[in-house]
Amino acid sequence: MTTVTGRTTPAQAGSADDDGHRTLAANPLREGLRLERMPEPCTMVIIGATGDLTERKLAPALYNLMLGGFLPAEFTVVGFARRDLSDEAFREHLHNSIDHYSRNKPVKRSIWESFSRGIEYQRGEFHDTEAWHALAKRLDRIDRDRGTAGNRLFYLAVPPVLHAEIVRQLGAAGLAASGEHRPSGGRGWSRVIVEKPFGFDLASARQLTREIREVFDEQQIYRIDHYLGKETVQNLAVFRFGNGLFEPIWNRRYIDSVQITVAETVGIEGRGEFYDQTGALRDIVQNHALQLLAIFAMEPPVEFKASDLRDEKVKVLRGVKPMTPSEVAEATVRGQYVSGWVEGERVGAYRDEPEVAPDSERETYVALRLAIQSWRWAGVPFYLRTGKALAARATEIAVQFKAAPLALFERAGAQPMEPNILAIRVQPDEGILLRFGAKVPGPGLQIRGVNMDFRYGSSFAVDSPDAYETLLLDAMIGDASLFTRDDEVERAWQILDPILNAWSSGAGGPLHFYGAGTWGPPAADELLERDGRSWRRP
Ligand code: BG6
Repeated sequence: MTTVTGRTTPAQAGSADDDGHRTLAANPLREGLRLERMPEPCTMVIIGATGDLTERKLAPALYNLMLGGFLPAEFTVVGFARRDLSDEAFREHLHNSIDHYSRNKPVKRSIWESFSRGIEYQRGEFHDTEAWHALAKRLDRIDRDRGTAGNRLFYLAVPPVLHAEIVRQLGAAGLAASGEHRPSGGRGWSRVIVEKPFGFDLASARQLTREIREVFDEQQIYRIDHYLGKETVQNLAVFRFGNGLFEPIWNRRYIDSVQITVAETVGIEGRGEFYDQTGALRDIVQNHALQLLAIFAMEPPVEFKASDLRDEKVKVLRGVKPMTPSEVAEATVRGQYVSGWVEGERVGAYRDEPEVAPDSERETYVALRLAIQSWRWAGVPFYLRTGKALAARATEIAVQFKAAPLALFERAGAQPMEPNILAIRVQPDEGILLRFGAKVPGPGLQIRGVNMDFRYGSSFAVDSPDAYETLLLDAMIGDASLFTRDDEVERAWQILDPILNAWSSGAGGPLHFYGAGTWGPPAADELLERDGRSWRRP
């Protein structure tokens, strides 16, 4: 067994100490080592267990972890929700969800039989203190019957307005205490996973943190941003810090600019009420896009452990200067889709979506230019864009390098060369592409851009785990490296609040419309054209 510094996936996860130090198995497929990487026995309580998230993400993730042999036999799931369901009906609900959404199907009978023995359901209204006491009693009983050792992971799969109340109830029912004696004997841990959005602006995010922190310590809180669980995002750190090749050029001397794209073809998928209060800046930029930026731009951490990684990420965000209203007008573009065609299907306008105001000004697209004021990045623009109902689904970070100091070949008559690009494709088709100029075979001097292309799918025979598999396992192991800390959340809002304020006051520029199925409003192209650049087509 070698000690390796690095993030891990379910396929490679090690055990973590309190600060998330990891040990990686030299051969992660060896059965004996897999056992060493298993989390301690625990119960995961999904609060809001009958919702969409459990169905689409949590149930399939837990099943796949079970299937991969990453969970101990004692592992138990308790669903807590308002709906009146028996244990059996809840099991059936999870079985159907897995059958529908799991990356491995059909459900394997032997695995399901042992998994389902550890699935229970507790009905309860979130404000009903009795229900939480009943949950506490149930968990004590489970500890005794199933040997879960008093370890509890609470997953808040509910809208954020309910977070404060639920956390308060957990505290009042004695469920938040970590490391204290449990009625069943041992001294288990207690952790809480909180889903985004983490607030609506800086003030509400601070308020939410305060309310959660009245009950849980920061070390017990796991704020999930599922982008950090994506394989390529984790690989970004390996790419930069595990290779000698790239880090020396990862700075303002060699890099001209960086583009971060989170493009979706889907619209708002029936979430009109939520989305019309939220918009693209809060839904994607506040968390996923700024986390990609932070990992891309951070300094090497002293060690690969949760606190060091998060210290470095927050330093990047501190370097991003919040904009003045006139900078917002100049460096941001907000858009909203009107009807069009996406992947051959007719898509109606955003304003015609159910539960969206017919005169809504909410942005479904945003493009912005950010500057990081740091020794490494001064003068390098970071362009971010994200949108719904765009021409293609693509998340990538594209680095454009500076041109060679002399245009030698142009002097000899060749056409101007395209810039060198390194594109890190997060999804789909995960991989890394390097684009450079090569001589076209033949007697003349013609130069053309060519690609060197690494694809996860063809280089590794294994399937990537879903981000939720990685993150749930990490939370059970106690490794918070891929979860967001309170200061990161706050800083992200400090960057975005001025943009939201300038937009809503009208000082931040108009709302632009774009046809569904396009790459966004022309104003976003103009943002880069003014800087002498253009967006890359992923
Ligand atoms: C979620 C957003 O956080 O991420 C959604 O709320 C978005 O609006 C989703 O569609 C995108 O996730 P992924 O993994 O499909 O890129």
